Amino acid sequence: MKFHEEIEPWQNALAILAKWDKADKKLDYYLELLDKSVPTYALARGYFLNVVKHKIFLEYFLKQHVLKPPQRKMKCFLMLVVGQLWELFREKGASDALIPLINGWVERSKRLFSSKECNFVNALLRKALPFFQQADTLPLAIRYSTPEFLLQRYCKHYGNEALLEYLKWNEERTIVYIRTHTPNKYLKETPWPDFYTLDNAENWRYVLPLICEGKAYVQDPMTRIPVELLRINSGMSILDLCAAPGGKTLQIVQTLNGSGRVVAVDLPEHMKRLKANTQRCSHVHLLGKNILELSSKDFEQRQLPTTYDRVLIDVPCSNTGVVRRKPDVLYRLTPKDFDYLPKLQLALLKNAGNFVKSGGLLVYSTCSVDPEENQEVIKQFLKQNNGFQLVDSHVSLPWIDQHDGGGAFCLKKR
Ligand SMILES: C[S@@+](CC[C@H](N)C(=O)[O-])C[C@H]1O[C@@H](n2cnc3c(N)ncnc32)[C@H](O)[C@@H]1O
Repeated sequence: MKFHEEIEPWQNALAILAKWDKADKKLDYYLELLDKSVPTYALARGYFLNVVKHKIFLEYFLKQHVLKPPQRKMKCFLMLVVGQLWELFREKGASDALIPLINGWVERSKRLFSSKECNFVNALLRKALPFFQQADTLPLAIRYSTPEFLLQRYCKHYGNEALLEYLKWNEERTIVYIRTHTPNKYLKETPWPDFYTLDNAENWRYVLPLICEGKAYVQDPMTRIPVELLRINSGMSILDLCAAPGGKTLQIVQTLNGSGRVVAVDLPEHMKRLKANTQRCSHVHLLGKNILELSSKDFEQRQLPTTYDRVLIDVPCSNTGVVRRKPDVLYRLTPKDFDYLPKLQLALLKNAGNFVKSGGLLVYSTCSVDPEENQEVIKQFLKQNNGFQLVDSHVSLPWIDQHDGGGAFCLKKR
């Protein structure tokens, strides 16, 4: 038996948690550290994401029940176990069933800790169940591991009831969506054409070959909306701004079905990933450039058109529409981001407008549910650019649309 097979998934997750506890990199960085080739990858990932999702709640539990902050190894172990128990309690209301599970975790703790420390683990885990039973009386910021300033923000924008729906949506398990024109029997239909879910996580191995052949993509149904708003016809020229890692570029290429031309732009440091993801597409031109500095000259130098039938700008944003998939977003955002991001988004959109043909369409999109990054940016843009008019839009709210949230706005150049 190889070394990595002897290690159980919770131990793999624990190793990643110890790193996540001290660093400030994005979630994807830590997920990449997990070994995808082992069959228990999904389990280890699940253990890790449970802790990330319920971070504030779990830290509060420890603070309430432990006098002295435990050392990192103990803290990570306790967060992992209590996180797992909480997830089962929440999903199945499984109170009595937790007791044998707790016994099992106390047994496992013997592989890591002294007998005195294991007694401590045992005593602490017994306190989890009464804590879970009164969880709904905790302040929302603790119960749903969401910073207070964000609660206030979304209460102001959407009201109390929708805020609660949003928080509940965010803490549910992630659904993996697959976009494909060639589904197999392991994929289940969804209300959205060409988007499927896996019947069972075990069947991932039957979908992987489709993904490796470039016949299927892991993509949320929300991503279809900005591309639909582009209203692409055969033979059109499309400028895809803020294109990396290339999810929407691929959708655009498929809609063009071998015709037309696509130019995809992102920062030079993100070109490698964009290139890897679009390598199968022969008629995509890549351009590494800061869009705030992008000018006609950049296109002329490469003998590319300076104006396009359709321009998509999929701006950097707060990611508040994708918290279920990226729960760490909540801990990295600060109130300052909501001052800075709309200014950056407006500046990017303004420059994007320069490359639209007369009569052509400009689509602005985000994966944020924040009106200041969506409707407000468009309002400001239209105020300053009377050469454009809003012709269509859709703001997806996860608790209503049942998929990722985000805004998409279609502007026509007169
Ligand atoms: C939301 S992501 C785009 C996702 C992409 N459209 C897709 O569907 O896969 C935002 C992108 O904006 C890029 N970006 C942010 N500021 C930029 C700038 N000033 N110039 C060019 N690209 C920028 C980031 O590098 C990032 O790749």
